[in-house]
Amino acid sequence: MYVHARSSELRDLHQIKKMDLVNCGQEASELFRVQSHLYKHLFSFIDSMSLGCAIQLGIPDIIHSHGQPMTLPQLVSKLHIDPKKTMCVHRLMRLLSHSGFFTKTTTVHEDGEEEEEAYALTPSSRLVLKDDRTSLSPFVVAMLDPALINPWYSLGDWFRGSELTPFAKENGMGLWDYCNQNPEYGDTFNEAMASDSRFMRLVVKEYKPIFEGLGSLVDVGGGTGTMARIISEAFPHIKCTVYDLPHVVANLPETSNLNYVGGDMFQYIPPADAILFKWIMHDWNDEDCVNILKRCKETITSKGYKEGNKVIIIDVVINEEKDDEDTTKAKLLFDTVLMVLLPGKERTEKEWEKLFLEAGFSRYKIVASYGMKSLIEVYP
Ligand SMILES: C[S@@+](CC[C@H](N)C(=O)[O-])C[C@H]1O[C@@H](n2cnc3c(N)ncnc32)[C@H](O)[C@@H]1O
Repeated sequence: MYVHARSSELRDLHQIKKMDLVNCGQEASELFRVQSHLYKHLFSFIDSMSLGCAIQLGIPDIIHSHGQPMTLPQLVSKLHIDPKKTMCVHRLMRLLSHSGFFTKTTTVHEDGEEEEEAYALTPSSRLVLKDDRTSLSPFVVAMLDPALINPWYSLGDWFRGSELTPFAKENGMGLWDYCNQNPEYGDTFNEAMASDSRFMRLVVKEYKPIFEGLGSLVDVGGGTGTMARIISEAFPHIKCTVYDLPHVVANLPETSNLNYVGGDMFQYIPPADAILFKWIMHDWNDEDCVNILKRCKETITSKGYKEGNKVIIIDVVINEEKDDEDTTKAKLLFDTVLMVLLPGKERTEKEWEKLFLEAGFSRYKIVASYGMKSLIEVYP
């Protein structure tokens, strides 16, 4: 009896151990999967840094000028670097190919026999070709500048402290003062914004109903005027004014329907039928936005008010339900960029609506969305 009981206990024990092992195996494989996720997340900054490096070395432009897929030795020979670093270039290109910036194809070697791996551009790397009309390489360069990256090291301390932004904590001043006092970076930043605005050329004609009834428009915080220039060319009947801080708009070339005015939007906004804010409201907190919008309402409803006068906002609207995964991720990343650099944030439609109503506007309409941004018309 005793022996029998013992053998069944042993059988049970064996069974339990077997199940433990299975559970343990499942638990271990789950833990290793999570470990990979953590490491991938931890090293995500390398995705941006390696892209910045490829742009610095001119890799997309070199492959583009070559006119066909380029092998590693061909690429290295054009980079003018120590051939000992050839395999490092291979590793950089392997990572960037994995991230969708290059494709790897095979070409036949000059001797006609051996097949060699060759790199070609993808739509993403075409976006950072230096001389392309829609190049975003200035944007990448400006965003990866140490002045903008170093404040991330202060984020934790900033949460516990009282400075306005991690950028101010790190650089001793806000971003706009920094751009003013470091003109070289200021130019880099303005060029970055201009590169983003050039994309408007692709869609501005489709926005005819938004612009065609206007006689005048002021682009507040319009930088060096790329956006206003595109509108002034597409709709020559509109008198466009670019309004930005005095050092940003000093000595810029005007045209018959495009002029520049320097000033502070918290003090004054030039009158016009429409007041445009592209990527401005997201730089500021709710209180500041409401103040600016109140000033706009006064301006567009003052003497000579015409039906149809409006505020036009081109900015991000967070919509996690509707947007695809990449767009949502990009919007959420931008939101944290704003938390680090400026006192602003990205907003949901509900949050935008609250600002408009608080500033005394009666209605708004999200007229169009392209990529990460939406165009919102706001009426008194
Ligand atoms: C994020 S950039 C956007 C530039 C441009 N609207 C675009 O999308 O390309 C913000 C702009 O606001 C300007 N700005 C900052 N503070 C300002 C102020 N108080 N009054 C007028 N412009 C200001 C900056 O100089 C900068 O050009």
